[in-house]
Amino acid sequence: MYINFWYPIVLCKDLGALPQKVRILSHDFVVFRDEQGTPAVLSDTCGHRGASLSAGKCKEDGTIQCPYHGWRYNTKGVCTLIPSIGKTTKPPPRARVDSYPVQEKHGIVFAFLGDLPEAERPPIMPIPEAEDPQWRPTLLTFDVNYYYERSIENGLDPAHNEYVHPTHGHSGEREDTYIMTDLRPHQNNIWGNGFLSSFDAPPIRSRFWKLFRKPGGKMEAGSGTYGPNHMWTYINFNAKTGIHQFMFEAPIDEHNTRIFLLCYRNLGFFRIDRAGFLGKIFKPFLNRLIDKKIDQRNMVIAMQDVKVINNLKPTLTPPLRTRELMMPADRVIHEYRDKLLSFEERGWRIDLPALRKAHETGDVIYAIPSPERRQLNTWVLENVPLIAKSEA
Ligand code: FES
Ligand SMILES: [Fe+2]
Repeated sequence: MYINFWYPIVLCKDLGALPQKVRILSHDFVVFRDEQGTPAVLSDTCGHRGASLSAGKCKEDGTIQCPYHGWRYNTKGVCTLIPSIGKTTKPPPRARVDSYPVQEKHGIVFAFLGDLPEAERPPIMPIPEAEDPQWRPTLLTFDVNYYYERSIENGLDPAHNEYVHPTHGHSGEREDTYIMTDLRPHQNNIWGNGFLSSFDAPPIRSRFWKLFRKPGGKMEAGSGTYGPNHMWTYINFNAKTGIHQFMFEAPIDEHNTRIFLLCYRNLGFFRIDRAGFLGKIFKPFLNRLIDKKIDQRNMVIAMQDVKVINNLKPTLTPPLRTRELMMPADRVIHEYRDKLLSFEERGWRIDLPALRKAHETGDVIYAIPSPERRQLNTWVLENVPLIAKSEA
């Protein structure tokens, strides 16, 4: 797990007037909206005696009030009131908790969990489809009981489709011809790697999908990463139409992951901006029906993956590549691990054995460092242990 990336926290529509606790990177955060409705993400551990802020209340002045002794923290994490010393006494400088940069994008509240200044932060994965009215999104979220890297690597693996997803392949019926050598690099950049490959289109097994493509011919698909936890997947039925999916993954801890799946399609919906009077009434309804079908379909496919990944051994990514026997179709998984190594060399990798030890003994609680830690060195909680930056 790595600091200094954008992590999905909660769906915007699910964040109302009450604070919520969210666990990511094996740390607890509180997410809430201030009096203007702007979301804030803070470390959940109160700087006084360690109560959970998410069990507190959002106050009319935009602060969150700790449930134990009523300390109030603003969206910057600064304590504005300590009731036991009175309203007229200013809280001391150490009375603060980490506050993380937040963006609401694609219907998701994202937080930057790290201490990099704004200009140096890796961005949220770019999605040009979000700016184009020819593409329509659906968005869902679900939890899986495995490590997020296992999930990402599954998405980068083109050879499993044939066997795991009856709708994506030929269900092993053509195993002699299903050779994956044509992985063309696509969208390789400083934050990630990807590929596209062409293959014979699988048979269409449902009437619903006949709406989306004609049987036979060639199709193109591929996927790639952006940072440790953002991934794109393209399924192009032909040069013009397809489905483009974007996953944002939140590692809850080493054994659990929350996945936010944003699925764009440029077919199978009605453009409301071009509809007439009656169309404006009926077409949104029809679009929502198809959206629901798409979400159901995506969950069926996700559960096919879950069934296999739940039983992968070891449960975490093996530290040595010689502990697996990779084939050319696994090339992009290697490239993803190379990228993770480059993040580790920057000093962004959490030292998991050290963190596990702290959780076992229960006498230390760490914080993911926020950008403010670069300005002030007076904090109640220690920084999470990180693997030392490479000297090179
Ligand atoms: S523990 Fe939060 S106010 Fe005391
Ligand atoms: Fe899959």
